[in-house]
Amino acid sequence: MKRTIDITFTDSAEPKGGVAFVLVTGNGDAAAGAERVDPKGILAKARGIAGFSGKAKSTMDVIAPEGASVDRIVALGVGEGATMTSNDWLAAGGLACAQLKKAHAATVYLDVPGVEVGAGQVAAFASGMLLAAYDFDSYKTKKDKDEADKEPSKTKVAIVTSDPSAARKAFAEARGVVDGVLLARNLVNEPANILGPVEFAERASELKELGVEVEILAEKDMRKLGMGALLGVAQGSARPPRLVVMQWKGAKAKHQPVAFVGKGVVFDTGGISIKPAGGMEDMKGDMGGAAAVTGLMHALAARKAKVNVIGIIGLVENMPDGNAQRPSDIVTSMSGQTIEVINTDAEGRLVLADALWYCQDRFKPKFMVNLATLTGAIMVALGHHHAGLFSNDDELAAHLLQSGKTTDEKLWRMPLGPEYDKLIDSKFADVKNTGGRLAGSITAAQFLQRFVNDTPWAHLDVAGTAMGSPQSEINRSWASGFGVRLLNDLVKDHYEG
Ligand code: BES
Ligand code: MN
Ligand code: ZN
Repeated sequence: MKRTIDITFTDSAEPKGGVAFVLVTGNGDAAAGAERVDPKGILAKARGIAGFSGKAKSTMDVIAPEGASVDRIVALGVGEGATMTSNDWLAAGGLACAQLKKAHAATVYLDVPGVEVGAGQVAAFASGMLLAAYDFDSYKTKKDKDEADKEPSKTKVAIVTSDPSAARKAFAEARGVVDGVLLARNLVNEPANILGPVEFAERASELKELGVEVEILAEKDMRKLGMGALLGVAQGSARPPRLVVMQWKGAKAKHQPVAFVGKGVVFDTGGISIKPAGGMEDMKGDMGGAAAVTGLMHALAARKAKVNVIGIIGLVENMPDGNAQRPSDIVTSMSGQTIEVINTDAEGRLVLADALWYCQDRFKPKFMVNLATLTGAIMVALGHHHAGLFSNDDELAAHLLQSGKTTDEKLWRMPLGPEYDKLIDSKFADVKNTGGRLAGSITAAQFLQRFVNDTPWAHLDVAGTAMGSPQSEINRSWASGFGVRLLNDLVKDHYEG
């Protein structure tokens, strides 16, 4: 059941009931202020009895004695606190969220000796709580009885910190990023009957409220531009395609923009090269790339990032139909290159071919990063723990790899090269949309590269990470929102200011 968490920051908490969270390091130091909720030192005693070592990501839940100011005390182990990264702070917040249980109120003590606990750390902890609290339950009309019993819908959380106003400021910024992640998760979790291309474009339009300029191109606009590759995919669906162009102008006009492009296949049946039935329901998430781009634009606008950013998403539905495109069809892309469609299930690259070309042609960006749930093959290679990174630019790739580590949205660089490119030469057209059985995620990337011109570019194949990825302290949802925190970090660290 969804829990609403209301977070405030204070330097003088007076807890009355609920739960207290106390950070504890591996050498037994507990956060300052803990004595307030634990005057009898029950935490230290329980530690000896229960063998709680304070190691990272461990917790100990103690019922407070009669007369204490709270009902429960939960120790949050952080191990060697001095080495805590921003990910560790997020995880600690996520762990705390999971331990709220029936509490309507929580007081959080983070200030442990030897650990740097500034506004950034406090904000990360708070963000972790919000990310962990997310649950997509809007279509459950009956609440699970056990759960309804266990979790109240609203919890007030007071985080104790020596500088509440600095924490508030840092959290206001961090919250924009959290909201961007949650927006991406919502879009991916939403079923395709509710979220078609038109409805997705409407959701993106809501970013106008944050100051993002949003243009929506309809079929006739795309026809005029010559986007035959994208339109070929869309023609089998009763629902028309959309191309959404989002612009956040956070820097002076003369600053060259950076650009993000997303695959937005609202549902991928495979088309005439239809997919098997088992697991096809997951293909409602085949717009995970577009969702991440939309969530990223939300994050950057909400925190008023000092950078010019373009976000472009190609929205289509891939359906079998009397009017659907067929294997052997040849379409002409906006770039002028002709494409032989060998397999109508390799549709994402067709959508991106026109979206990428349009992006570089119109905006001449500093770089383009595209995100796409592009291939099953990337999951064979990397499983759910890394997204595939393909790039024609070593500096951009290095920056992305670094942001992947910082945010724990990990990337693994994969090769590109002329040997692979040869595999997509077509007998009848300039290029074909599949490269055979081997190196499936690489030939897909090679295909995209033919549509980026000379622009520095990176492609993130997020098929294994955008959805159905393993749950973590900060994600209990099928849709992870992968890419929003990663790319927010990339922009913040290298392209802002
Ligand atoms: N959307 C799929 C890739 C995918 C599969 C994403 C599973 C997430 C989970 C993509 O459009 C696709 O169908 N790719 C084909 C390409 C093949 C026909 C060359 C694939 O990976 O099998
Ligand atoms: Mn497909
Ligand atoms: Zn697809």
